[in-house]
Amino acid sequence: MLYTESLDAPADDPDLDLIRFDNGALLSHDIATGAMHITCKGDLTLDVAGTLTQKASAHIVEGPVTQTGGDMTSDGISAQQHTHHGIIPGPASTGVPQ
Ligand SMILES: [Fe+2]
Repeated sequence: MLYTESLDAPADDPDLDLIRFDNGALLSHDIATGAMHITCKGDLTLDVAGTLTQKASAHIVEGPVTQTGGDMTSDGISAQQHTHHGIIPGPASTGVPQ
């Protein structure tokens, strides 16, 4: 990481590479733990020309999720096209998921 003598180092932890912006946004990488962190003070957009793949031991989403532009599948089952077995068609809507 390059710093200048005219600016204070953004962190004094030798294991931490940190870029801090004036509005509080920051990018950090802890070499000791391998953890990376992004703090964004506005919208964050990933504009990917190809496939975006996420691999993690777990995914945690805090907040509502909106997906557009096509179907969504879970283990090959379509959210828009899947059917339910053992249902007798009638005029009523189903209840909430249980
Ligand atoms: Fe369903």
